Amino acid sequence: MTSSADTPVDTLSPLEASAEIARLSEAIREADRLYYQDDAPSLSDADYDRLRLRLIALEAQFPELVRPDSPTRKVGAGPSEKFEKIRHVVPMLSLDNAFSEEDVVDFVGRVHKFLATHGQPVTFTAEPKIDGLSLSIRYEGGRLVSAATRGDGAEGENVTANVLTIADVPQQLPGDVPAVLEVRGEVYMSHADFAALNAKAEAFGGKVFANPRNAAAGSLRQLDPKITASRPLKFFAYAWGEISADWAVETQFDRVQAFGRWGFSVNPRMVRCSSAEELLAVYRGLEADRAGLGYDIDGVVYKVDRIDLQTRLGFVSRSPRWAIAHKFPAEKARTVLEGIDVQVGRTGAHTPVARLTPVTVGGVVVTNATLHNADEIERLDARIGDTVIVQRAGDVIPQIVEVVKDDAHDGRSPFEFPHVCLCDLATPLVREETAAGEEGKIRRCTGEFACPFQRQEHLRHFVSRRAFDIEGLGEKQIEFFFHDPDLPIREPSDIFTLAARNAENPLKKLENKEGFGAVSVAKLFSAIEARRTVSLERFVFALGIRNVGETTAKQLARAYGSWSAFHDAAEKIVAGDGVAREEMDAIDQIGETVIDSIAAYFREPHNRAIVEKLVAHLTILDAEKPKADTAIAGKTVVFTGSLEKMTRDEAKAQAERLGAKVAGSVSAKTHIVVAGPGAGSKLAKAQALGVQVLSEDEWLALVGEG
Ligand code: IVH
Repeated sequence: MTSSADTPVDTLSPLEASAEIARLSEAIREADRLYYQDDAPSLSDADYDRLRLRLIALEAQFPELVRPDSPTRKVGAGPSEKFEKIRHVVPMLSLDNAFSEEDVVDFVGRVHKFLATHGQPVTFTAEPKIDGLSLSIRYEGGRLVSAATRGDGAEGENVTANVLTIADVPQQLPGDVPAVLEVRGEVYMSHADFAALNAKAEAFGGKVFANPRNAAAGSLRQLDPKITASRPLKFFAYAWGEISADWAVETQFDRVQAFGRWGFSVNPRMVRCSSAEELLAVYRGLEADRAGLGYDIDGVVYKVDRIDLQTRLGFVSRSPRWAIAHKFPAEKARTVLEGIDVQVGRTGAHTPVARLTPVTVGGVVVTNATLHNADEIERLDARIGDTVIVQRAGDVIPQIVEVVKDDAHDGRSPFEFPHVCLCDLATPLVREETAAGEEGKIRRCTGEFACPFQRQEHLRHFVSRRAFDIEGLGEKQIEFFFHDPDLPIREPSDIFTLAARNAENPLKKLENKEGFGAVSVAKLFSAIEARRTVSLERFVFALGIRNVGETTAKQLARAYGSWSAFHDAAEKIVAGDGVAREEMDAIDQIGETVIDSIAAYFREPHNRAIVEKLVAHLTILDAEKPKADTAIAGKTVVFTGSLEKMTRDEAKAQAERLGAKVAGSVSAKTHIVVAGPGAGSKLAKAQALGVQVLSEDEWLALVGEG
C-alpha cells in the first residue's frame, strides 16, 4: 500500500489515494499555518505548488475522497489570535498560477471558450504581481473605517490602527466615491527601505528580516501601531471588495486608474493586452526589468479587463476564472559546496544541510541550503567541493538543484551519509516507515529518549514559545542545564523539580553559577511555577508527538476535552481498540498519520514514563467544550452538494460552534446529512442508511440561524 508523488493518480487504489490525500492535506495545512500566521514559510513556492497540484489531481480522480475541509477549498490559514477579526463581505480569494507560456495560452483559450467569443477579441490587463501581503481597506462616505489582512480569505485580522500609519494609504477620499468602497491591494516594502531597516536592526540588535515580504508582514502585524508607523510600508491598489452602488467605471484598468486619481499608488507597469502573445511580451519585459523595479515581484497577473465579463466568468473554488498569476521561475546562482553537516532533530531525524561559499541569490546572501535527506544527496550526487546551483524561491530555505558534473567532480569521493546516530550511543539509523507502509526517506535514530540529541531537541520544543513558553528557559539555558552535573534537566519533569533540587543543594546553588544571579534565578523559578498550570492544547503540543503540530493539538484538545479522556483514548488505540481509533479518526483534520504517530508515541515505554512523571507536576486545564445545549450538540453532521446561503467553511464553523461534529463521509454514526444541489453518493448512502437528510434551509431552521 504505497504511493508517492510520482505514482500516476489513475493507478492508485482508493485506499492508497485516501492515505496520500490525508498526508498531503496535513502538510499543506501546516505550511499554510506557518506562512500565513507565523510569517515563517517552511516550503518553497514551487514545493508548495507541487503538493497542491498533486492534491488537486488526486481529488479530481477520487471525488468521493474530497474532504469538506480540504485545503484545496480554502485560501491560506485562519487569522492569528492577536488581532480582532473582520469578516470580508466579499471573500478575498487567491489566484491560480501559470508556470509556463503554454499555461498562459491555455488560460486565454479557456476564457475565450467560456465566453464563446468565436474569435472576437478579449482585452486583458497585465501587471506586476507584488510580493507583499494583501490588504482590504474599507471606506464609508469616503473615510477610512477599517482595514483587514486576507487571513483565510473569509476572515482577516483587523489592522486598521496600523494601516492608518501608512503614508501611501489615503484616509479621506474625494467627494465622488461610492458610499461604501473597499479598496484592495498589496502592502510591501521597497528594497532600499528594507536594506535600511535591516541595517538599523543589526546595529541596534533588533530583528533582522529575511526578505522584504517578511519585513512588510512583520511590520503590518504589530500590536503596537507606533512600531508600524516607524516602518516604511507602501501600498499598491489593484482590486476591490464591496462597493455600495453600481460603479459606472466598467473595466479593471479604468477602476485602478480611478484609484490613482483618488490618491492611491497604483502600479505604473499595468497595461492592456489583447492576446496571449502580448501578455507574454509584458511578462518578458517585466522579467528583464525585475531587478531594477526597486521592490520584489514574483510574477505577472493577467486579468480580463471588462467587469461584466469577469462576472460571467465567475470563480472556480478558490480563485477567479478571469485571472491568473504567471509566476517567475525561482532565482538561481552558482557556488561551491564547502561541506555537508548532518543535524539531528527532535524526532531523531538526521537532516543534511549544505554549507556553501556565500553567494547572493535574488538579493539575499545564501550560506546554507537544504539537502532534504540522504536520497537527495545521492540523487544529486553532491560531493564536497563540487560547484552547485542553488535556488531560492520566495522566502524559504534555499535548495541545491543541480551539481556541475565537471572533471573535478569525478575525482571527488561520494558523500558517505552516517549509518549510526551522532549521539554517544551510536545507534543505527533506520528509515522509518510511513503511515502508508512505505519506506520513508528520513533516516532516524531509534534511541528516542536515550539519544541525547533527541532529548535536547525534545526539551527545546517543550519550552518553546508555542508550547510551555517558559521565560528565561530558552535554547541556551536548555543546553546549559542539559549538561550541568549539579542541576541537570534531562527530561521535561526535571524542569518542575529544579527549584526544589536547587534548595536541597546549598553548596552548589544555581545563584552562584556564572550567568545566573539571585534575581534571574528567582525570576526563572517563578516563570516555571506559573507554567504548572497549562492548557490541554499546549500540553499535547508540547509532548512533541510526531505529526501533532499546534493545530492538530488544538483539534485533539477540543475533541477530548480533558487530558484523561485524551490519554485514555491513546492508550486504547495502543491496545488495538478499533472503536477508539475510529472516534479519533472522526475528529476534524485528524487522519491515520496522526493516529499512528500518537499510537507509536504512547506505545514507547520511555515516552510513557516521561509523560507520567511530568503529569504529576502539572494541572492540565480542560479544553473549552463545544456547546451542549443546542439542537445539534453532540451530533455528527455531513455536508454534501453545494450550499447556497453560506460557504462550506462557514457552515462547518457554525456547526462546530453549536457543538456538532462535522465529518467528511456518511456512516452509520452520522446523525444528519445536509444535502444541497448536486449531492450524489453521500446522499444516496444517507438514504440507504436511513440517516436524517435536511436541505440547507431546514438545517438553518434547525440551528436557529435561518
Ligand atoms: S489580484 C481575486 N493583482 O497575489 C484575486 N493580486 O495569489 C485578486 N497579488 O492574494 C488578486 N499582486 O496578495 C492581484 N497585481 C496583483 C497582485 C496580486 C500581488 C497577490 C495578492 C493575492 C495573491 C494571489
